[in-house]
Amino acid sequence: MDIKIDTRYPSIDDLRAKARKKIPKFAFEYLDGGCNEDVNLHRNTSELREVQLKPNYLRDHHGSSLKTKLFGIEYDAPFGIAPVGLQGLMWPNSPEILAKAAFDHNIPFILSTVTTTSIERASELTEGRAWFQLYHPTENRLRDDIIKRAAAAECPVLVILCDVPTFGFRPRDIRNGLAMPPKMNLSNILQVFARPHWGLQTLKHGIPTFEVLKPYMPKGLDLKQLGKFMDETFSGRLNEEKIRPIRDMWKGKLVLKGVASEYDAEEAIRLGIDGIIVSNHGGRQLDAGQSTIKPLSTIAEKYGDQIEVMMDSGIRSGPDVARAMASGAKFTFMGRSFMYGVSALGKKGGNHTISLLKTELQQVMEQLCCEKTTDFPDHLIK
Ligand SMILES: Cc1cc2nc3c(=O)[nH]c(=O)nc-3n(C[C@H](O)[C@H](O)[C@H](O)COP(=O)(O)O)c2cc1C
Repeated sequence: MDIKIDTRYPSIDDLRAKARKKIPKFAFEYLDGGCNEDVNLHRNTSELREVQLKPNYLRDHHGSSLKTKLFGIEYDAPFGIAPVGLQGLMWPNSPEILAKAAFDHNIPFILSTVTTTSIERASELTEGRAWFQLYHPTENRLRDDIIKRAAAAECPVLVILCDVPTFGFRPRDIRNGLAMPPKMNLSNILQVFARPHWGLQTLKHGIPTFEVLKPYMPKGLDLKQLGKFMDETFSGRLNEEKIRPIRDMWKGKLVLKGVASEYDAEEAIRLGIDGIIVSNHGGRQLDAGQSTIKPLSTIAEKYGDQIEVMMDSGIRSGPDVARAMASGAKFTFMGRSFMYGVSALGKKGGNHTISLLKTELQQVMEQLCCEKTTDFPDHLIK
């Protein structure tokens, strides 16, 4: 795969700035915001960046490779695209753009239950390589049906979430009417007029809908009824009783996302889960919690030989991926970075963002004299 970068946007910050200008304010704030006072949102990146790495310039070096094995699959880089809901709101067809770019670059793409393309379409675009993230349905019948669809679509990995027992409290979304139930107010309509390219693209592709859930939704729901449907359909809090039947039913790899404590990591191991993503949902759920880099090292050190330990939240660059890997993550994910890319650059955004991150990470590895991604911990300054 050719590494091609649009030289006007050589950082995720550049993409974020462009995205802010390109999409309506309510969509940008939905993507960009954390929760409550956004404390953990900022801490995720700032505390991650306190991690420092040491180079060994005079060591023999035979080249650096980003290739990383996870669950028996060799990926071309140690990072993937985290599940993001409502992606079509930020840019039309963005889940399809990202799924295809992930496939072309051989990195994992995780499809959210509440995004705007279906399991089947994501699977088609990635030749069965897309992972699927399940929000826990209240009804067993619905849960079983969605899991069967993910299996039929050959998803190799099912991701379940433990960090959404309740919806995050997000003042900007509440102000913008993006809470449940959502509403289109005058201010939002004016924001659309201020971003005509977004408006035209959205008109061209149609209003985004929840494609995974479409078969189960009564037809013609208005926005208020949609909020009620979502509330009734999902019960966020996970526990052993809910995880056991999923583990029994799902023959592929099962990942628990949202782990931020040793307790949850131990529970995951006890319940036969294959991997955990140490994550605080990008600071969108518990503003008073820790940044993810804080629990990562302990969890990786204590449980890394019993379960695959991955991490997301706050990663915005190749050096950030290196910092997370050096601190014990076997693999990393990003949500906003990719969505900034696709919101800024549309169809080209997926390829650009992946290429940028690969280029940055390759540079860090060569600088450190780190040949394999499993060697990052040797460079950690403790
Ligand atoms: C706009 C937005 C929507 C999200 N929706 C979901 C979702 O539907 N399911 C999920 O598991 N995580 C969701 N997340 C969390 C991401 O999967 C991921 O944990 C987070 O974005 C990582 O932090 P980062 O954005 O700093 O990389 C969402 C995150 C954002 C920013």
